[in-house]
Amino acid sequence: MANTPSASAPTAAPSTLHLSAPGSDLSVDLPIVDGAIRANDLRKVPTEDGGLLSYDPAFLNTASCRSAITYIDGDAGILRYRGYPIEQLAGKASFLEVAWLLRHGELPTQPEYDSWVHDITYHTYVHENVKTFLQGFRYDAHPMSMLCSTVAALSSFYPSAKNIYDPEERNLAIIRLIAKLPTLAAFAYRHIKGLPFVYPDNDLSYVDNFLSMVARMTEPRYEARPVFTRATEILFILHADHEQNCSTNAVRAVGSSHVDPFSAIAAGIAALYGPLHGGANEAVLRMIQDIGHVKNVPAFIDEVKGGKSGRLMGFGHRVYKSYDPRARIVKALADEVFAEVGVDKDLEIALELERIALSDDYFMSRKLYPNVDFYTGLIYRSMKFPMDFFTVLFAIARTAGWLAQWEEMLLDKEQKIARPRQIYTGPGERPYTGSLVY
Ligand code: CMC
Repeated sequence: MANTPSASAPTAAPSTLHLSAPGSDLSVDLPIVDGAIRANDLRKVPTEDGGLLSYDPAFLNTASCRSAITYIDGDAGILRYRGYPIEQLAGKASFLEVAWLLRHGELPTQPEYDSWVHDITYHTYVHENVKTFLQGFRYDAHPMSMLCSTVAALSSFYPSAKNIYDPEERNLAIIRLIAKLPTLAAFAYRHIKGLPFVYPDNDLSYVDNFLSMVARMTEPRYEARPVFTRATEILFILHADHEQNCSTNAVRAVGSSHVDPFSAIAAGIAALYGPLHGGANEAVLRMIQDIGHVKNVPAFIDEVKGGKSGRLMGFGHRVYKSYDPRARIVKALADEVFAEVGVDKDLEIALELERIALSDDYFMSRKLYPNVDFYTGLIYRSMKFPMDFFTVLFAIARTAGWLAQWEEMLLDKEQKIARPRQIYTGPGERPYTGSLVY
C-alpha cells in the first residue's frame, strides 16, 4: 500500500496481517495502519529469543517516525514541503519563508515573516572566540570538517540550549543555528583563502549577506550578481529538507538522546559530508574532471557498469525511482546561470553522461536517474565556489530542515531514544585465554 499523505487521502479501513508462529499452532493478527505494521507488534510472535524481530539494515523498508514535514513520491518524482510542490516554492518563495514553513507547517503571515527575518538577521554574529577556533585549522582543512566542528563548538557558547523542552530556548537555538551557519561557512571559506573575515551586514538579505561574507574585498558594500542571488536562493530551497535521509536520520537519532541542538546538527553535518550523500555534488565534479573529455564518456560508463570506476556520482537515489524533481529545476537553473556567465566547460560531459545513462539498460533497469547533485556543482563552480565548498552550501540550507525535523521528533510523544536491535553473529561464551605480559 502506498504511503500517501493523509491530507489528500483518508486512512484506509483498518486491516490486519495474519502471522503464524513458526513451529506452533499460535497465530496473531497485527493491525496495519497507514500501510505499516508496528515492528514491535512482531514481538507477539514467539521465538526462542523472546519474539520475532524485523531485520532491516540501512532502513530499506522501515519508517522511523510519523512526519508532517516533507512528502516524497519516489515513483512519480514528487516532492512537497508541508503540501506545497517544490516547483512552486522554488519559483516563488524565499529561503527564509521556506525555513519558517518547514518548522511551523504554514506559510508565515507578513508580521511573522518580518519578525523571523529580523531575528535571523540579528543573530548572524558569532562570538569572537569562534574566529580564534577557526584560525586553528590548517590552510587546507576541508570546510565541512571546519563547519562540523565549529557548529559542535557553539554548544559550549550557549549552554542553556540544553533546555530543549523550554520553548523559548528551543526557539532561540533554532534562530541562532539558521542565522550563524552562513557566517561560519563564510569564515571557513575566508580562512582557507587566507582572507580577512567579513562581518555580517544587517542591511542585506540572508543570501546576499552570505555571498557578501564570502566574496567582499575592498568595496564598502558587496553587490552579488542578481543571477547568483537567485540561483543560491533556489538551491537553498531545493536543499532545505528531504524527509528521512541519512543526515536527518542522524540529527533525529543523536537528538533523541536529548543532547542540545548544536551537537545534533553537528552530527547531521558529519553525515552530509559523505560522498554518497551531500558530498556527492563535489564528487560529481571530480568525476567529470577525471573523465576530461566528452569522447571518454562511453568508456567511463562501461567502466562503471563493469564495477571498475566506482559509481556514476549524481545518479541514483534510495527513494526516487524516476527523475528527481529537484534535478529538473537545477538543470533549468543551470541554463539561466550559464546564459549570463557563459557555459561551464564541463557541461558537455555532464549532458553526454546523462544522455548515455538514460538510454542504457544498466541504468534504466535499476531506475537510476540524475539526482539533485548532478548539476548543482556546475552552477556553484560558475559562481567561483571551490569544489570542496559545495557540500557546505548544502549544509547551510539543510539546517532548516534538520531543525524542523529535530523539533518534530522532540515533541512526538511516541519517540524515545533511538536504539536499534541487532542480530548477534559472534562467538558464544568462551573462557578468557589471554597470556600477554604487561
Ligand atoms: N552508479 C552506478 N550504479 C549504481 C548507482 C550509481 N550512481 N547507484 C546505484 N547503483 C546500482 C548499484 O550498484 C546496485 O546495483 P546491483 O543491484 O547490480 O547491485 C543498484 O544500483 C541499487 O543500488 P543501491 O546501492 O542498493 O541503492 P541505494 O538506495 O542503497 O543507494 C545511493 C542510493 C544514492 C547511495 C546510490 O544511488 C549512489 O551511490 N549514488 C551515487 C552517489 C550520489 O549521487 N548520492 C547523492 C544522492 S541525492 C542527494 C543526497 O542524498 O544527498
